[in-house]
Amino acid sequence: MSQLTVLSLIFLLSLVRSCQGQLKVGFYDSSCPGAEGIVNSAVARAFTSNPAIAPQLLRLQFHDCIVDGCDGSILINLPNGKQENKAFGNQGLGGFNVIDEAKTKLESQCPGVVSCADIVALAARDSVVLTKGPFYDVETGRRDGFSSSISHASDLPGEDEPINALQDKFAAKGLSDKDLVLLSAAHTIGTTACFFMGVRLNNFEGTGRPDPSIAPAFLAKLQGICPKGGDVNVRLALDDGSEKVFDAHYLDNILTGTAVLQSDAALLNNPTTRALVEFYARSPDAFRNDFGLSMVNLGRLGVLTGSNGNIRRACSAFN
Ligand code: HEM
Repeated sequence: MSQLTVLSLIFLLSLVRSCQGQLKVGFYDSSCPGAEGIVNSAVARAFTSNPAIAPQLLRLQFHDCIVDGCDGSILINLPNGKQENKAFGNQGLGGFNVIDEAKTKLESQCPGVVSCADIVALAARDSVVLTKGPFYDVETGRRDGFSSSISHASDLPGEDEPINALQDKFAAKGLSDKDLVLLSAAHTIGTTACFFMGVRLNNFEGTGRPDPSIAPAFLAKLQGICPKGGDVNVRLALDDGSEKVFDAHYLDNILTGTAVLQSDAALLNNPTTRALVEFYARSPDAFRNDFGLSMVNLGRLGVLTGSNGNIRRACSAFN
């Protein structure tokens, strides 16, 4: 074989390898043509009986991807209980049963083909659509990881952190201020437990007082739902007045002092994130479009592709 042929072969092989190792829209089109439909049916079925599943599944993708990348590590249960989903900041996560149900169906149709990490990403998109949010193409081709550790999730962005800490934590993962604003806007649907309101309502920045940025009438409402010393498991809407519909109303709330989570209100405390909140509140169409782009960015974090990772048989356990 001539030197040129060998070089061409090496080039071709490296091209094949790099193609195998990339996310792409429609990754399962030939290997499991029904994959996206199967996930969609599982999510739609669950949503019909319990609409609260949509925000849970959207949140699940964030919590999977922000720790060790989008590798399905959030889904794992370990005999010693030291898995990622047991971390403090992962409290209240749900939707695992829907992922498991989709996986069971997928394994019966296309065994060993579709990763749990991809099911999470597809289920999040389908949840956005079911709540009347934007459709966006989900890149697939992720593979599942081999570790899931409670300690790796010890530094999740917290609801009582100042804006610069939130920006730093997103930037550390390669997510911009724009991603921070757009992805935080996932809080346009769903609820929080009063547990996450304690600092904001009673001891903002160690003052022993509520967050002064809360509009007075809204503060009274929040204190009524989450009184000091009350049941921390009571849940309240994250987007007051529109928690069931994916829309830009959440952004208006931030501007009028009626955001619920402190981390959402904090988006006004930096000129860049503030300008983004103002822009997207004025431009709901841009918000819908750009939210999808930021979800794609989120879905690219630390992915395992090609020959890295594997395809789990069950999402809650390593093979
Ligand atoms: C900026 C950092 C973030 C912080 C501090 C934060 C914090 C929280 C907290 C405290 C809750 C309430 C959890 C509960 O009581 O069950 C929550 C719920 C939620 N989060 Fe976030 N979050 C952040 C970013 C994100 C991102 C990036 C997404 C998705 C792209 C997301 C999606 C959701 C959704 C949909 C819910 C509602 C869950 C439900 O109704 O069960 N969050 N978040």
